[in-house]
Amino acid sequence: MPIVSPSILSADFAQLGAEIASVSSADWIHVDVMDGRFVPNITIGPLVVKAARRVTGLPLDVHLMIVEPDKYVQDFRDAGADWITVHAEASDHLDRSLQLIRSTGAKAGVALNPHTSERELDYVLELCDQVLVMSVNPGFGGQSLIERVFPKIERLRARIDQLGLGTLIQVDGGVKVDNAWRFVDAGAHALVSGSGVFRSDDRVKAIAAIRAAERPAG
Ligand code: DX5
Ligand code: ZN
Repeated sequence: MPIVSPSILSADFAQLGAEIASVSSADWIHVDVMDGRFVPNITIGPLVVKAARRVTGLPLDVHLMIVEPDKYVQDFRDAGADWITVHAEASDHLDRSLQLIRSTGAKAGVALNPHTSERELDYVLELCDQVLVMSVNPGFGGQSLIERVFPKIERLRARIDQLGLGTLIQVDGGVKVDNAWRFVDAGAHALVSGSGVFRSDDRVKAIAAIRAAERPAG
């Protein structure tokens, strides 16, 4: 069963504590950090991660969509991040970024935009605790998934298995109850879902259904 990581990007920030509590049946909490430079949107910083840390015991899965991510890794770790993921396209020295994240005691991840090949990671894969494969162009919640992501997940999974690594594949963007099975079939271990969880009528049910990742009958 996949790890389910609801993205608080689709939560009501006026009542963030209650919103996080409403998804406490999930495995992780996904936090989308955007700087208005790497992506055309601005969201939150370490202060909000620190606030989230106070209201949940679940691992905080922090997705940095920012330029010069190395500058902020320690700040997010100090705020309580358990997983810190940087974009391959945003780091000039990915090997260094991953080592830096691990040196703080956090788990290290690399995110790939839809146009970036999984082959970019050939020489750093063993430094990755997870690879976050974007299934939309990063910046906003509620977008439709890009179908071309599926062969990429398959190729990446084959490479990880071939090397015998424990690296997790996380998918982010457009994941819903009815398509979760497709990502799991392709080889994903962890599914991020923002609108698919927070905009559903029953969040607990939505999390359970994404985790079950059932192929629809017929
Ligand atoms: C997009 C973010 C996602 C976003 C997913 O840039 O990285 O985590 O919250 O939202 P949904 O699940 O609504 O596509
Ligand atoms: Zn994200």
